Amino acid sequence: MKVIILGNAGAGKSTLARKLIASQPAARLSLDEVAFQGGTERRPLQESVEDVRRWISEQDSWIIEGCYADILEPVLACADELIFLNPGVVACLAHCRSRPWEPEKFSSRQEQDANLDNLLQWVGTYDTRADEYGLARHRALYESFAGKKRELCHPELYASTRCSVFIATSLDGLIARNDGSIDWLERANAAVPASEDCGYADYMQTVDAIVMGRATFDKVLSFPDWPYGNLPVHVLSTTLRCRPSGVPDSVQVLHATPHEVVERAAAAGHRHLYIDGGRTIQGFLRAGLITELTITIIPILLGSGLRLFGDLPADTDLRLLSSKAFPFGFVQSHYAVCQKA
Ligand SMILES: NC(=O)c1ccc[n+]([C@@H]2O[C@H](COP(=O)([O-])OP(=O)(O)OC[C@H]3O[C@@H](n4cnc5c(N)ncnc54)[C@H](OP(=O)(O)O)[C@@H]3O)[C@@H](O)[C@H]2O)c1
Repeated sequence: MKVIILGNAGAGKSTLARKLIASQPAARLSLDEVAFQGGTERRPLQESVEDVRRWISEQDSWIIEGCYADILEPVLACADELIFLNPGVVACLAHCRSRPWEPEKFSSRQEQDANLDNLLQWVGTYDTRADEYGLARHRALYESFAGKKRELCHPELYASTRCSVFIATSLDGLIARNDGSIDWLERANAAVPASEDCGYADYMQTVDAIVMGRATFDKVLSFPDWPYGNLPVHVLSTTLRCRPSGVPDSVQVLHATPHEVVERAAAAGHRHLYIDGGRTIQGFLRAGLITELTITIIPILLGSGLRLFGDLPADTDLRLLSSKAFPFGFVQSHYAVCQKA
């Protein structure tokens, strides 16, 4: 990963950087470290830029965060993603007021507090400042970047959105046959007492929206009834252009990355997303966005079929939260995905 996070002070850059690093290891540079001589005096711009270039050349995977457009502009092309955090001045001011002591910047809490009024005054002029720290320069930098980029207006919600999985697999880790059929699962479910849903209804009570791949959506459309009521359902597809006729208004077709999906969902106030479909789950796992997995293993070996899991950029540690064996042979395990510190 080679990511630049840009935005006003208090926009949530460090929080987002830590969250990204938790899902994929990377070195992190705060531009505050190269911008100043010590105290409040800025270093010559060229020295700061050279330090950043040198630092980049020493890293395989990195995140740079800061509000210094003059330092970022010459190194922008080194990034393969630019994230512009723009939650609005009111949110930035609130974050600055609630910041814990930052020992790397201030020798004491008192010193930090003594600087707070100046900081708030400075942060509050973000929308109108014409200098390198202001919205206009940040917006211009964002628009000039030709690579992958996203503007997050709800970084805090984004950081707190949970994405979970609730799925059944064969013992050999398959979610469907090669042709997508789940006859084996339907047969197994038919043998389960009518009073037992293996926790599905309780889980669905906590879900604000479902995100499913187009292949899973096709399967759901073959069911006799729409199973999700009015719950918002985001169908990911590069081939579907719009909602097929006869499908409820609660369904929205999206062509978006997992991060974009989470940002949109957060903006809509959806805090818990149920991610469904093998390749879709794999995409969210690779993006480091899955927080919990509930996997019900059906006692059958299929030999071949569609896999639940695929390649990952790094090992993903899981913490077992609970495990339950049902008398009819299903075994359900609930895992939390461990966030790296
Ligand atoms: N065992 C279970 O509990 C369980 C649960 C759910 C599903 N299933 C089964 O699993 C099968 C489907 O799984 P699957 O792995 O084939 O696929 P899937 O994840 O349901 O769908 C994959 C498709 O989703 C779209 N997609 C995924 N991520 C996208 C993104 N970021 N942007 C745009 N489009 C994206 C693409 O559609 P386009 O090709 O249109 O671009 C892709 O081909 C079905 O047979 C279903 O019945 C089983």
